[in-house]
Amino acid sequence: MRITVIGTGYLGATHAACMAELGFEVLGLDVDPLRVAQLSQGKLPFHEPGLPELLRKHVNSGRLRFTSSYQEVGAWGDVHFISVGTPQRAVDGGADMSFVKSAATSLARNITKDALIVGKSTVPVGTTRQLREIIRDNKRPNVSVNIAWNPEFLREGFAVADTITPDRLVIGVESSEHEEVLRAVYATAIAGGVPLIATDFETAELVKVAANAFLATKISFINAFSEVTEVAGGDIRILADAIGLDARIGRSFLNAGVGFGGGCLPKDIRAVQVRAGELGLERSMGFLREIDQINLRRRARVVRLSRAMLGSLSQRKIAILGVTFKPDSDDVRDSPALDIAKKLFDEGAEVSVYDPAGNANAFNRFPQLNYMGSVRDAVKDAELILVLTEWDEFKALSPDVLAAQTSSRKIIDGRNILDFSMWEASGWSVGSLGRRWWPNTVVSRQTVSQLELSSGPAS
Ligand code: UDX
Repeated sequence: MRITVIGTGYLGATHAACMAELGFEVLGLDVDPLRVAQLSQGKLPFHEPGLPELLRKHVNSGRLRFTSSYQEVGAWGDVHFISVGTPQRAVDGGADMSFVKSAATSLARNITKDALIVGKSTVPVGTTRQLREIIRDNKRPNVSVNIAWNPEFLREGFAVADTITPDRLVIGVESSEHEEVLRAVYATAIAGGVPLIATDFETAELVKVAANAFLATKISFINAFSEVTEVAGGDIRILADAIGLDARIGRSFLNAGVGFGGGCLPKDIRAVQVRAGELGLERSMGFLREIDQINLRRRARVVRLSRAMLGSLSQRKIAILGVTFKPDSDDVRDSPALDIAKKLFDEGAEVSVYDPAGNANAFNRFPQLNYMGSVRDAVKDAELILVLTEWDEFKALSPDVLAAQTSSRKIIDGRNILDFSMWEASGWSVGSLGRRWWPNTVVSRQTVSQLELSSGPAS
């Protein structure tokens, strides 16, 4: 079976390399010739642990190739995976389906032997049926071209493992014949015990958005309780540990902090609201609006906390450690850390940034910040340090070593990764998300709002 992968972004490049690792002949297509050239030389244009090795291995063996030609792909492949992006539409927050539709159209026009098209992109419910029509209208009369949907659940930083041994496989199919094709593609995972759920198109499409909406809800749930412990007292980390011990709740995705970002969670919860609206179901997905708002409030909270700890932001020197949306990634799409850095810059602060992998991407989006090559360079002369991505390097920071490199002992832990008592014992003032801002002082609600107001307007 020959496999093609249309779109070689994060998802597609990973899928293509992993399919080659599983023993298939693979041809990846991208409309960007630069990307095709890079991948063809075994160069991965983003950071993902373990993937560069797989890419090089299979480009070198000849099992994995890349092209820009739909003609070549259509004449060669038996199973065509569509992995192009569905970015957020600026106009209403819905999913921009133009890349998916154009990939399906181009494939259908160029396929010259019987084939199965398998969508992997995250799409609004109803897409597969629409694409089936597009394929019927555009395919050549003498070939049979069918469609199935197979959502992808890979996490950045774990993309290879999540693709080769996922938690589960979900396929939306309209015939047992198509199910058999996909069972053959995933035979190794299935033999290893990975459950496969074969269902209809709509369920398969919805599983992906429902999973991401649930994860986003869990994170915003704990962050909403952070808002309470920040005012009423308490420690959100202990609260999360305690409720997480209930097996029905579980501890994962209950880490409070600056909230979720990245290329999936924020856009997916917005797109599903727009789709629900189109279906006349605004209220069903209306709670996700609040989930989004809670998440965005975390960013504003860090700005207010910075202002409260410094007295003012204008011309104050702030160091930001971590600019990606999560560790082990160079991705800054919808990154809470980069958003906070921008907000502080807009309020007049002088912002230095260090990230182990994300500086270059952040610079491309927001070059006004001072990007530094190490923690030491970033914190030099800083009056306040913000830890905004939980890279191991930052978890291992020593309060005494850092104190010797900077000018004032003030730090905000935006990810709840530092041992507060150790840092406070070393003379640091630690602002956190999920504890009172001034842990040693008993304050009334009125005092809290006065302090917030006197330290500037909420952003
Ligand atoms: C997510 C889904 O997990 C994955 O299944 C889907 O295919 C794509 O979207 P990813 O975007 O790689 O994957 O990141 P994930 O690990 O889910 O984290 C998302 C965001 O939530 C990150 O910004 C992370 O920092 C944040 N997060 C996660 C929290 O703030 N708290 C947590 O407890 C967990």
